[in-house]
Amino acid sequence: MSSVRYNGVVKSFGAFNVLKSLNLSVPDHAFLALLGPSGCGKTTALRILAGLEMPTAGQVLIGERDVTRLQPRDRDIAMVFQSYALYPQMTIEENIGYPLWLRGMPDQERKAKIAEVAAVLEIDHLLTRRARQLSGGQRQRVALARAIVRNPTAFLMDEPLSNLDARLRLTMRGEIKRLCQRLGSTTIYVTHDQAEALTMADLIAVMHGGDLQQLAAPAEVYDRPANRFVATFVGNPPMNVLPVKADGTDIHVGGARLAIRGERFDACRAASVTELGIRPEDLHLTEPGATGSMAGEIYVVEPMGNETLVDVRVDGGRLTVRADRGFRASVGDHIGVSFDAGNACFFDTAGKTAVHRVEKTERNRA
Ligand SMILES: Nc1ncnc2c1ncn2[C@@H]1O[C@H](COP(=O)(O)OP(=O)(O)OP(=O)(O)O)[C@@H](O)[C@H]1O
Ligand SMILES: [Mg+2]
Repeated sequence: MSSVRYNGVVKSFGAFNVLKSLNLSVPDHAFLALLGPSGCGKTTALRILAGLEMPTAGQVLIGERDVTRLQPRDRDIAMVFQSYALYPQMTIEENIGYPLWLRGMPDQERKAKIAEVAAVLEIDHLLTRRARQLSGGQRQRVALARAIVRNPTAFLMDEPLSNLDARLRLTMRGEIKRLCQRLGSTTIYVTHDQAEALTMADLIAVMHGGDLQQLAAPAEVYDRPANRFVATFVGNPPMNVLPVKADGTDIHVGGARLAIRGERFDACRAASVTELGIRPEDLHLTEPGATGSMAGEIYVVEPMGNETLVDVRVDGGRLTVRADRGFRASVGDHIGVSFDAGNACFFDTAGKTAVHRVEKTERNRA
């Protein structure tokens, strides 16, 4: 096991800069999710680490070793792809054991290793079958087994769950997390699914347009997003963003005056904030006209079973509110929306978070 580091990695395809200058450190044993929308350069970053792609500039290090110019086979890492890439003509046992066979490991030893890994992944009863006789989830396990069996320094996974149906994806999400915890391997897991990143990772690296936006633990990314992009990309339903107007004494949002004073108010003024972000679970529905609430109109009501998502039109935009499971209302009904200003964050004109939400610990002290 080992740490992994990108040092000013640039990758261009012709005039197109896919990675602008990636600096990223993954500590030993950590599970890092590389999260971002389609086309932001996640796979490119992973392929550079695997040695399948050369960077235009910069270095990649595994441990203290600069591996930038090493062949993939000399890097001691294993990669699991979205399309499991199993060999159809081989049995499952042969598929899993293939990397060991390539290394020239004796039969007996190889069989023992395969049996051990297959038992961990609960596919030991499938060893004599062929890939096409397996379900998607089983194939994914075989692909994982083939990666683990080599005992790699680092584990790279590129959207390994995207070919599975929704239910299986949830199951495998937990399985992979357990497996990585058990193996303690340094893992880089590429995904565009923010829920996977939040639930599985120790650290999330959020990428957008070839730039790293934030590197932090999941709770930090969720509670203290570095900018508007991260704020709205992480979380489902996404964080609500509304324009704000500040005058000499107050900040107004959605036609209401915000109860914000002291240091936070001064910080908002100093940064000339233009927008406010507030999560759906931090909004409350009130009677229309309740003191301090924004005047709203029901746009749509979506019962989810365990809760109800309510979209409300207010002055300046639309908000999604997480309400109780029993909430009932009709489209067009008037309603109030309120929130504790301490739960909001504020963005400057560049979209950077100028003022974060008040942390729970600070609030408890207050
Ligand atoms: N060999 C290549 N030649 C030219 N452009 C490429 C090449 N490989 C990737 N790109 C471009 O680089 C950008 C990033 O691609 P990449 O595959 O890294 O994205 P990604 O974040 O993995 O996206 P997705 O979530 O869709 O898999 C894309 O715009 C892609 O079209
Ligand atoms: Mg990709």
